[in-house]
Amino acid sequence: MFGPDSLILAVETSCDDTSAALLRGERELLGHVIATQDMHEGFGGVVPEVASRAQLRVIDPVVEQTLARAGVHLDDVTAFAVTAGPGLIGSLLVGLNWVKAAAYALGRPFLGIHHMEAHLFATALEDEGAQPPFVALLVSGGHTLLLFAERWGCYRLLGQTRDDAAGEAFDKVGRLLGLGFPGGPAIERLAREGDADRQAFSVPMVRAGQRPEDDDYYDMSFSGLKTAVLTRVRELDEQGRLGDAIADLAAGFQYAALSQLVEKTLRAVNQTGCARVVLGGGVARNAVLAESLRRRLPPGSQLFVPSPRLATDNAAMVARAAHFRLGRGERSDLDLNAQAALVMPGIV
Ligand code: KG4
Ligand code: ZN
Repeated sequence: MFGPDSLILAVETSCDDTSAALLRGERELLGHVIATQDMHEGFGGVVPEVASRAQLRVIDPVVEQTLARAGVHLDDVTAFAVTAGPGLIGSLLVGLNWVKAAAYALGRPFLGIHHMEAHLFATALEDEGAQPPFVALLVSGGHTLLLFAERWGCYRLLGQTRDDAAGEAFDKVGRLLGLGFPGGPAIERLAREGDADRQAFSVPMVRAGQRPEDDDYYDMSFSGLKTAVLTRVRELDEQGRLGDAIADLAAGFQYAALSQLVEKTLRAVNQTGCARVVLGGGVARNAVLAESLRRRLPPGSQLFVPSPRLATDNAAMVARAAHFRLGRGERSDLDLNAQAALVMPGIV
């Protein structure tokens, strides 16, 4: 049933993007639409109530456009997939209820997918070689996970953030620097004009002499760094020097934040002996992150980076994750509920 001709229609509405994808077999994307909400910019972050209402307005046209581009009729869909969590509960419910209704009406199976497992599958859509075993660094607006994927569905959690997620830190610092929302792309752009040495910050969670047995060996933290930027911004402002320092602050923050991610990933590569690394999540769009990793990984390593469209939230990665799990015979029941803090399946 989930052979080369299966048609999976996936929907992703976990935050402020509304996306649908039609996947044939394992990797052939017949249609893929992502509608991004831009009304949150003025609020400096996503407003959950506004996001879920917007999801409701665009879910029908987004799915219709996806089917039209794929040239596939809804009746021909083999199975449905949807992000069931984690995410904003109101937004998640829009996609989940849409998929439940369609699956019920057409008498087709459906499956709820974990948002971060979907991010883990994004590179597998683009590159046949992006298969476990690999070390995975998943860096989004809500999560920061360092995993060792032994095989699909079996993930050893090496480390995670103890406070803010990596993308969240970029967004908060972006707001501090007056760069709007989301902060990540704006900081990356501005950092190119700045000098990290002129506004240097220490790299969090990286000490000399740390050992793999230490419980902070792989863990990460971003909130202290954010507070350090805030303190520096206030000092510079009092001295009337803030305006000239914005690009240097962006560069200094980005260097410290990304260095932490790179160091922890290199530790995972050294300890597991696995020289294959997969990136996922919105922060994987940051070209400096990929460049730094590429420079520092041992010779002969492979680094898989999702294309920008598949790094941030999208339904194609949900369809790809669902192809794996539906193929194993997994199905969800109609009483499946959305969960804001869903635990990732397969974590050992
Ligand atoms: O995976 P994603 O689309 O949504 C969540 O699941 O959270 O990630 C969004 C996050 C935002 O925090 C955004 O600032 C960050 O990804 N991001 C970036 C870049 N592009 C997006 N962070 C750093 N550099 C970028 N170029
Ligand atoms: Zn995401």
